[in-house]
Amino acid sequence: MKNLVQGIHHLTLCPGGAQQDIDFLTQVLGQRLVKQTVLMDGSIPIYHFYYGNADADVGSIATCFPYSRKPGRAGSGQLSCTSYTVPVGAIPFWKEHFDRRRADNSGVQERFGTKYLRARHPAGLLFEVIEEPSDARNPWTTTEVSRDVATRGFFGAVLSVRDPREQESFFVDALGFRKVGVDGPYHRFEVPGTGPGRIVDLHVEPERTPGSWGFGAGTAHHIAFNVETDAALAKQKAVYEELGYTDASEIKDRFYFHSMYVRSPGGILVECTANVPGGFYQDEAPEELGTKLHLPPWFEEQRAAIVAQLEPITVPEENRPKSGATSAPRPATAAHKSAAEPAIPVSRTKAAFETPKQGR
Ligand SMILES: [Fe+2]
Repeated sequence: MKNLVQGIHHLTLCPGGAQQDIDFLTQVLGQRLVKQTVLMDGSIPIYHFYYGNADADVGSIATCFPYSRKPGRAGSGQLSCTSYTVPVGAIPFWKEHFDRRRADNSGVQERFGTKYLRARHPAGLLFEVIEEPSDARNPWTTTEVSRDVATRGFFGAVLSVRDPREQESFFVDALGFRKVGVDGPYHRFEVPGTGPGRIVDLHVEPERTPGSWGFGAGTAHHIAFNVETDAALAKQKAVYEELGYTDASEIKDRFYFHSMYVRSPGGILVECTANVPGGFYQDEAPEELGTKLHLPPWFEEQRAAIVAQLEPITVPEENRPKSGATSAPRPATAAHKSAAEPAIPVSRTKAAFETPKQGR
């Protein structure tokens, strides 16, 4: 039987300033800004930026809440590094590029026999580029990052845990991963299947103080896995409950996909997502992805109050429409429209975004 989890859908991080985040993700990491929207929980307007490859593929999307209101505490029990694939031989370029851009970086390292290089976001978040010979996804390119070296999408993610045992049980029993090896403090897990974005490395750090769980600048918030359909999302929730992970959330309408969350035993928040027809292409044309602020329809009537509280940003020139920059759109699958599958009730948060009073 096909595994419910198909690989990573997105990784969600909390940087600090909005423009600082856009500049690092697009200019330093060479990502495409594919969506500007807002956090759909709570009553404080916070941007939600989505960055990905040229096709905004599932499995290439880093999403960021620039949360300058409060610092977070990085530590164990968190996603600790976001990993992108790059072509074999591209690492020397990235070393030079990070140095030129004055991005704090690790120097070339190796785990499981593969070279990688880490760089630190100005807010403290870690990213890495890792060599992978067979990733055919369509990269976004910039004036500084050309196609022969650009990131293709996620290789996977690194999660910091103090003790791997319960987290391993969760990945194997609840998510269907298999353990593929251990290299020093790294325990590698893989989702059955083919294609990239199916790797999770548990980094065992027994002495590391647990990190914060809420939104806070400089910390990752959650990892999301693709289960493809609403029916699979409901099945995954049932799997959690059957195994005793009874705090799985309701299924939430995130407009571009549907989501369900559970806190995993190592402390990391784990989301599963189902695609919806059109995905990121529902509200803007492929060549215009990420060029304007989009709100879900149920937030539109509060647009003025929301926009008034957001930091003005400049979208990078590389993100503006240009001919030949993107391939044909590849909308998310609409398999969940099948008549054989039940309609899944989804919840929507509709907070009141109040315009701040004068003098506050
Ligand atoms: Fe998410």
